[in-house]
Amino acid sequence: MAKKRIGILTSGGDCAGLNAAMRAVVHRSHILGWETIGLINGTASLLDENPEFRILKPNDMSGTVLRAGGTILGTTNRGNPFAFPMPDGSLKDRSGEIVDGFRKLGLDAVIGIGGDGSFAILKRLAEQGNINMVGIPKTIDNDIGMTETSIGFDTAVSVATEALDRLQPTAASHDRVMILEVMGRDAGHIALAAGIAGGADVILIPEISYSIDKIAEKIQAVKESGRNFALVVVSEAVKKEDGSKLEMTYQGGEKRYGGIGYYVSQKLSDATGYETRVTVLGHVQRGGAPTYNDRLLASAFGVKAVDLVKEGKFGRMVAWQNRQIVDVSIEDAIKAYQDVDLDGTMVQTARALGISLGD
Ligand code: F6P
Repeated sequence: MAKKRIGILTSGGDCAGLNAAMRAVVHRSHILGWETIGLINGTASLLDENPEFRILKPNDMSGTVLRAGGTILGTTNRGNPFAFPMPDGSLKDRSGEIVDGFRKLGLDAVIGIGGDGSFAILKRLAEQGNINMVGIPKTIDNDIGMTETSIGFDTAVSVATEALDRLQPTAASHDRVMILEVMGRDAGHIALAAGIAGGADVILIPEISYSIDKIAEKIQAVKESGRNFALVVVSEAVKKEDGSKLEMTYQGGEKRYGGIGYYVSQKLSDATGYETRVTVLGHVQRGGAPTYNDRLLASAFGVKAVDLVKEGKFGRMVAWQNRQIVDVSIEDAIKAYQDVDLDGTMVQTARALGISLGD
């Protein structure tokens, strides 16, 4: 088979396991006699006259890379090339420049590691520029359809579970109700999984409406049972009781969820008279070493992605289904957004354990 030159990029928010996936791609490509080029900061570097990239060799990917959090290539979750924010405040379609950038690098194929937002952009770019593209799903939110799990989710849940393990003894020492706000964007997967694994009494997720009265009843029942502490997990996108969103505005007017933990804390303290404290876990869920599950998933995804290139199967995303690696159409995966299944095992398990979901 002719020597190929494949590009790899990470796009969207980082998470643990991205480097492990890149390492797998580099090793597998090397075994096939191909060259791997790492694009710096996702597609952003392709906007430069001379796109910034790194030739990735197996030796660069030994040692710490498998274990390291973040992405050695850098990434961005801003700057959609189809509506790119310009210094004068206007939006410009710069997709043509990105396609030119791909061409300048002489790539036979590109492996994009991203979430559904990144895939939507990469798919459009691939169609516009006739670029051979394969996707590897990553997101701590675990909301990409057609794959049971994505790189980064397992680590995020482990971090959130460990936070509950650390909150429980301090809650018990001070007779407190501890509220842990976790990430997940519009899906409650992290809250639900970590809440069950970490022994929460209440789990609030965006998919289920709650009332403060119901949560207060649960906390009251816990206290009346003779236990002096309670643990509440709340997903960042849970709204106020009146249905309004809680957001923070960051640099450039970027909005992100934030504040629901403090809202619930105040309301619960008013309703029950118990002392509450809030922990907002934030980006801690994205950093640090990947769990063994994320390393395995990343390794299997990286190998499969290269093999798809070898088979000439493009427009595909690698996926995990029924204990197997498979490939699915990126288009279908983007359409099949996956939030929490209200009739699924996780929700049933939580309810069967007596955990309040606030409803
Ligand atoms: O999508 C991953 C995620 O970590 C979400 O859970 C969170 O809402 C968002 O990204 C935070 O984005 P940023 O890193 O831009 O603050």
